[in-house]
Amino acid sequence: MTSPRPRLLLTQRQTPAVMARAQKDFTVFPVPETQMTTARLLDAAARFQPDAIMVSTSLPVRGADVARLPSSVRVIATVSVGTDHLDIPAIAARGIALSNTPDVLTDCNADLALMLILAASRRAAEYLALMKKGWGRGLAMDEMLGCRVTGKTLGIIGMGRIGRAVAQRARGFDMKVLYSNRRRLPPEQEKDARYFATPEEMLPHCDILSLHMPASAASDGMIDARMLGLLPRGAIFINAARGALVDEDALIAALRDGHLAAAGLDVFRNEPTPDARLLELPNVFATPHIGSATMETRTDMGMLALDNVEAALQGRPLLTPVTG
Ligand code: 8YV
Repeated sequence: MTSPRPRLLLTQRQTPAVMARAQKDFTVFPVPETQMTTARLLDAAARFQPDAIMVSTSLPVRGADVARLPSSVRVIATVSVGTDHLDIPAIAARGIALSNTPDVLTDCNADLALMLILAASRRAAEYLALMKKGWGRGLAMDEMLGCRVTGKTLGIIGMGRIGRAVAQRARGFDMKVLYSNRRRLPPEQEKDARYFATPEEMLPHCDILSLHMPASAASDGMIDARMLGLLPRGAIFINAARGALVDEDALIAALRDGHLAAAGLDVFRNEPTPDARLLELPNVFATPHIGSATMETRTDMGMLALDNVEAALQGRPLLTPVTG
């Protein structure tokens, strides 16, 4: 007699290949058309008694939520590298295994950061709006000019996997790379990048600043008026990491008064309804948290999450455990 298939609660649809594997290997709770809220997740979990749950960054599972999960749950797999939406100690205290999806999204996230750098520097949002209106007349030689990207100095805060992949791409644009990180990287990872022990020391040297560190209580709002004020006038600000790293009032003020020439933003403090004042600014190029949003990467992320679920349920070590 074969043992029953384990029960998997998916909180949102995954790519077709991931869905096909999930349906084949698990009993899957009916996947909602739109992403579940935490309240719906808890309700579904109580009714379905899953062995495993797959979540993502837009589905917070905090301490009180963890306490309400049924005892059937043996593993939570987040389809994300970030874990700031999860209460890691509370999950560990319940004896529930936890995994994330590092590495597989590094390239796509770094590609997106470059897209934001190029789009913000070269005024892509304004040009697109002009073209949609019908263009209509030739632009003067000195009209609506952007900032050259090639050869500029890029400062990176957070030189983990994604920060290093951004640095690698920036070298292709002959950019000088500076970075600030909790610790200095070994030479084979640092390459020609220049290390600063604190962001404060680095910011005055940056034409472009790009954030690539995780969000935490300690880093909440760290990019504030004082930090933005340390950037040279006319700098470009890029965030494809987390909205919570930024004091958005200060960012809006710096973009309005021209201290920042432009910003390229994929993440916001209030997702999915960011501060309207940011989106109204002509010098903001904005995308809706799409760092990993390619078919290839989302499939790799979903597959890695399923690998972790299977490992946990079969009593093997997780491939990419989150340990706190
Ligand atoms: C999201 C991300 O997971 O991995 C992360 O931490 O922020 C993204 O890849 C993805 O957009 C789904 O929420």
